[in-house]
Amino acid sequence: MKNRILSAAVIVSVLAASCSSQRAITTAGGSKGLKDYYNNFFPIGVAVGPRNLAGDEAQLILREFNSLTAENAMKMGPIHPQEDNYYWRDADSIVSFAQNHGLKVRGHNLCWHSQAPSWMFTDKEGKTVSKEVLLQRLKDHITTVVNRYKGKLYAWDVVNEAISDKPDEYLRNSDWLKIIGEEYIAKSFQFAHEADPNAMLFYNDYNEISPVKREKIYRLVKGLKDAGVPVHGIGLQGHWAVNEPSRGQLDSTIKRFADLGLKVQITELDISVYPKEHDARQRKSADADTTFSPQKEQQQLEVYKMSFDVFRKYRNVINGVTFWNISDRNSWLDNFPVRNRKDYPLLFDRHLKPKKVYQEVVKF
Ligand code: GLA
Repeated sequence: MKNRILSAAVIVSVLAASCSSQRAITTAGGSKGLKDYYNNFFPIGVAVGPRNLAGDEAQLILREFNSLTAENAMKMGPIHPQEDNYYWRDADSIVSFAQNHGLKVRGHNLCWHSQAPSWMFTDKEGKTVSKEVLLQRLKDHITTVVNRYKGKLYAWDVVNEAISDKPDEYLRNSDWLKIIGEEYIAKSFQFAHEADPNAMLFYNDYNEISPVKREKIYRLVKGLKDAGVPVHGIGLQGHWAVNEPSRGQLDSTIKRFADLGLKVQITELDISVYPKEHDARQRKSADADTTFSPQKEQQQLEVYKMSFDVFRKYRNVINGVTFWNISDRNSWLDNFPVRNRKDYPLLFDRHLKPKKVYQEVVKF
């Protein structure tokens, strides 16, 4: 009897604790999150690291988002640091958090010129490997990683940023291109598809709003599709800023890719409060003012509002919008293009409160 009273008391207190944590979640900004406003449009995702999966950030994730991307944990260097050694812990923790809470996961990424481990391209003597060796290593990597998360990830960014930014150069002159040739792209998609035939496979790149780069991406993906390569979508990273894209640029970009008959996702959305610059540079005296002024706030709000307007217009084509980082507490833009220049590119402030712009994104 005494035991039963005790266990009833325990149940009551557990229930009370869970109700009060539920309350803590709902009072932060109302019980509805971005994912609920966009329920009939597309999943709303966010890029995270394992450190984000506890405390107030975890609560915010669960209230607002229904899809996750690993900010770094699934990239080739972090997940495959040596030939015989995969480091799964960080990626696994993101996938199990998603599974425990019923979130989707999109994988990022399988083949990229950056954050690739240097062992991949060299032999034991430090000499560059042959095309055959590199293709085999690429296959082993893609097969192992895709297999591990088969059925748990619904999509992968297979090749990231293969297009050159130089106006008169088509493909980026990466180690992949130099050693294997153009076919590394098609092969990556084939390896991924063989490992998980159900995963949606994306080609992902940035500055797709530039007509020159856009046409190169179009040419690449059309070529793959015409050759029967399993490519299912185009990822527009969407690292934008207060001065771009214009509505016309964004609309014509999505329309152009939709013409290919493929899905489009916005995969890395953030809108910097500084005018767009594509290359890292030294700090200048004009960078001293890093306040989030009402003027910056208004300019950013207009670009976000316009972007989501256009995303909703293309709801039949767009099947995912993912933010790159959770809140203005931390963003890669705090160190790019200028090291240590605070940026405010997201919908939540440093205290995780929805900014004014949030209301504009969910008001339609
Ligand atoms: C690119 C990559 C991302 C990330 C950002 C910067 O967009 O695709 O994985 O590294 O750069 O954070």
